[in-house]
Amino acid sequence: MKIVVIGGTGLIGSKLVNKLREQGQEAVAAAPNTGVNTLTGNGLAEVLKGASVVVDVSNSPSWDDAAVLNFFETSTRNLLTSEAAAGVKHHVALSVVGTDRLSESGYFRAKIAQERLIKESSIPYTIVHATQFFEFLKGLADISMVGDKVHLPHVLFQPMAADDVASGVARIAVGPPVNGIVEIAGPEQFRLDDLVRRRLAALKDPREVIADPKALYSGAKISEGTLLPGKNARLGETTFETWLTQSAGTIPSAKSPAA
Ligand SMILES: NC(=O)c1ccc[n+]([C@@H]2O[C@H](COP(=O)([O-])OP(=O)(O)OC[C@H]3O[C@@H](n4cnc5c(N)ncnc54)[C@H](OP(=O)(O)O)[C@@H]3O)[C@@H](O)[C@H]2O)c1
Repeated sequence: MKIVVIGGTGLIGSKLVNKLREQGQEAVAAAPNTGVNTLTGNGLAEVLKGASVVVDVSNSPSWDDAAVLNFFETSTRNLLTSEAAAGVKHHVALSVVGTDRLSESGYFRAKIAQERLIKESSIPYTIVHATQFFEFLKGLADISMVGDKVHLPHVLFQPMAADDVASGVARIAVGPPVNGIVEIAGPEQFRLDDLVRRRLAALKDPREVIADPKALYSGAKISEGTLLPGKNARLGETTFETWLTQSAGTIPSAKSPAA
C-alpha cells in the first residue's frame, strides 16, 4: 500500500516512515526537502499519484499566531484538494489531546482549524490525538519562560515517547478510517512542572522551574484535567525513566520556535 507521510522528515515522520517500511508498506516521506510543499502545493499531485493513505505529521516552522494558522489552514486545504483528485481513501492527521479545550492558544486555534477542515472534507479520516512527547519537554520549557525562569502550572499530564507516537500512528494508518478521533497517551501521569524540572536536570540545563498556578500552557489557561486523555486512550509502553536511560543524552528534541 502506498502511504504518503507529509512531514516525513520530522521527529515523528521519520520514525513513522521507517516503521511502515519495516511492515512492508510503500511509505514515501514528503516534505520541502524532498520536493513537496503543502503550503505552495509544489510536488503534491506527483507524490499523491497511486497513494491509498496520507498521514499528515507536518508542523509549522513558525508558531506565531498568524503564521501557524496560515500554515495549518493553507496546507490542509491544499492537501485535501489534491487527495480528492488523486482518489486517496484515508487521511490521517496527528493532533494533540485536549486541542478543543485549548482555544485560547494561537497554536491550538490553528490545530482546531486543521481538524475542522478534515472533518468537513469528503475524504474518510482519522484524527490521532497524542499527548505531549517526552522529546518536547525542553521545548515546553523554552515556550514557558517568564524572565529567566520557566513558569508552568502544577497540573497533571500523561506524556509519551515519540517512538510510541509513531507506532500508534502507523497502526492507525494501515487500519480503516474511523471518521473521528483516536487518543494515544503515555503509560504514566506526571505533574507538568515536575517532569520538565526532571528533564532539564537530566540535560544539565540550569533553568529554574516555578510551579505557578497562573502560568499559561502555550498561551492558554489550563486546569487539572485539560491535558489528560479520556479513558479509552491507547497507551504506549515506554516509561519516562526507560526513555531517559535508554537514550541518555542522544535524544533529538521536538522543535519549538524558541529552540
Ligand atoms: N510536540 C508535541 O508534544 C506534540 C504532541 C502531540 C501532537 N503533536 C503534533 O505532532 C505533529 C508533528 O510534530 P513533530 O515534532 O514531529 O514535527 P517536526 O519534527 O517539527 O517536523 C515537522 C515536519 O513538517 C515538515 N514541513 C514543514 N513545512 C512544510 C511544508 N510547507 N510542506 C510539507 N512539509 C512541511 C518538516 O519538513 P522540513 O524538516 O523539511 O522543514 C518536517 O518534516 C505536529 O502536527 C504537532 O501538532 C505534537
